[in-house]
Amino acid sequence: MPKTKVAIVGMGTVGSGVARLLLDHGDRTARHAGRVLWLEKAVVRDLSKARAAELPEGVLTDDLDEVLNDPEITVVAQLIGGLEPARTIMLQLLEAGKDIVTANKALLAEHGPELFERARELGRSIAFEASVAGGIPIITNISQCLSANQTLSLEGILNGTSNFIVTQMDVQGMAYEQAVRLAQEKGYAEADPTMDVDGTDAAQKLAILAHLAFGAHASWADIPRVGIDQLDPEDLRFARELGYRIKLLATAHLDDAGLELHVAPTLVRAGTPLAEVQDAFNAVRVVGDAVGPVFYHGLGAGQMPTASAVVADIIDTAVGRTRLTFQTLELFSPVGPPRVRLRA
Ligand code: NDP
Ligand code: HSE
Repeated sequence: MPKTKVAIVGMGTVGSGVARLLLDHGDRTARHAGRVLWLEKAVVRDLSKARAAELPEGVLTDDLDEVLNDPEITVVAQLIGGLEPARTIMLQLLEAGKDIVTANKALLAEHGPELFERARELGRSIAFEASVAGGIPIITNISQCLSANQTLSLEGILNGTSNFIVTQMDVQGMAYEQAVRLAQEKGYAEADPTMDVDGTDAAQKLAILAHLAFGAHASWADIPRVGIDQLDPEDLRFARELGYRIKLLATAHLDDAGLELHVAPTLVRAGTPLAEVQDAFNAVRVVGDAVGPVFYHGLGAGQMPTASAVVADIIDTAVGRTRLTFQTLELFSPVGPPRVRLRA
């Protein structure tokens, strides 16, 4: 059977999950890819640190050059969070001829145009299914499965950490600080959890989805956002008494005036699908002009759900079936992007 040599850069929560899937379930990946996905290298900062995945001798390295200079490694999962050194490493990998898979939405929301343009110039791909809603295949669904539609609206719970915290406070009566710590321990939160609780992470994901679904050019930083850090436990109690739940919703709504985008804790009527999304689950409701409403629900954060999306992207990349990139999507778009209205 043919072999594709793969590397991982960044062996934290997600990187370790990806290594586990590649090493423990090669049969599955071989069945779907028709080739062996061989984990050749895993690049870390600190070789002495304990990792959640046991790696074969010689795989772990702290030298990125071992990946850059090995022409047999063709696919790299870039799983370092934040902007730098993630951006520089992505560019180095592209220059070295690697196709990339990433879960780093902060990087794509900030530097996506530059990275996708460079990938296009070099004939390389960047797959990013795991960057929004973890294990839910929302990128593929919006950019491929629903591509016959004009998306009319999209609303979702896109940050697992916030939903986990609100659930713990609302259902278990847990204190906010304790719920944040638990989300960190479970590997849901960003390295800096402020990004989760102040709505930044949800706005970054909304900017990515708005680009794919509507062709909209919105900078995540311009999207009005309020996070769950503004909530009082009393708000949750009053909402419940009135027959509602509070959910951090990311919303994109298209009408004649343009596209409205915002992120905010929102009252959702109890018993409706979005209101019942618990813990680190995410959900997205998309309305297309042909298909009507479609609802997606699944784990939006955590090691294995996210690794599931990353490894699916690795398989697709290895067999040359990589997702559309931002640039190709724009090239195919028959109409110009909508005017973006940002609600204050
Ligand atoms: P972690 O912080 O657990 O892991 C990141 C890893 O990158 C760390 O192990 C860190 O090393 C390593 N790293 C940092 N700089 C370097 C470097 N220069 N060379 C090699 N390794 C480096 O983050 P996650 O695994 O949780 O997240 C990774 C990415 O996936 C992020 O962009 C995140 O937003 C995204 N994501 C995370 C999800 C989740 O549920 N956790 C879900 C979906 C997306 P060290 O261990 O030494 O600090
Ligand atoms: N910190 C993010 C979240 C990880 O909680 O949703 C998944 O992108």
